[in-house]
Amino acid sequence: MSTEIRITPSILNADFSQLGAEIEKISKVADLLHLDVMDNIFVPNFTFDFQAASEVIAQSVLPVDAHLMVADVDQIAVEYAHLGCASVTIHAEATRNIAQTLREIRSAGARSSLGIKPGTQIEAYEEFLNDIDMFLIMTVEPGFGGQKFMENMMSKVRRTKKMIGDRPIWLQVDGGISMSTIEYALDAGADTFVVGSAVFNDPNPAEMVEKIRKHAHDYLES
Ligand code: DX5
Ligand code: ZN
Repeated sequence: MSTEIRITPSILNADFSQLGAEIEKISKVADLLHLDVMDNIFVPNFTFDFQAASEVIAQSVLPVDAHLMVADVDQIAVEYAHLGCASVTIHAEATRNIAQTLREIRSAGARSSLGIKPGTQIEAYEEFLNDIDMFLIMTVEPGFGGQKFMENMMSKVRRTKKMIGDRPIWLQVDGGISMSTIEYALDAGADTFVVGSAVFNDPNPAEMVEKIRKHAHDYLES
């Protein structure tokens, strides 16, 4: 069975002083650019405010997959969609009106995505399936790159995959994905992979994206 695999490198562990050049390194091999927006409220770390994120999005040669780890995400999420992001992820724990915000993201032309932290169960969100283009299952506590992959999240990924059924909804995992851990996520049914430190701590980020993609395809075919 051929499964479509998407690799979405996160620039969280890239060199922020030369982001343009860092993004350029993976521009020919990545499917989307995963942009981690953190506000130091929803998570204990800060990356970009809206203005700085807008500049990265405007300059990115890749379509942008915005992962919003910010409190009170509803209104700003729609603004990210209006900036031209290909995909906008809101966290279930940070939204006041999930259905409306997901619909507004779609209406603004982006894919609507719902993310959940390791401690949040997926079952409560089944009722929003028709408004969702991607689920993001966190495989680390959000906030920092370079953390250890939580293998115990794989049962949640499996349950999400089952819930998705035949719908064209992408299933993304984020946190600790590497050449070795991607196998667990593939087994559980994920198809879209955020890879941060494994790519940007490698001397050749583009080559690492290609290696991970090839490894994923080989693993699925084996
Ligand atoms: C963590 C972020 C991730 C992170 C992934 O809160 O959402 O996207 O950058 O980095 P690695 O792959 O190093 O875990
Ligand atoms: Zn992320």
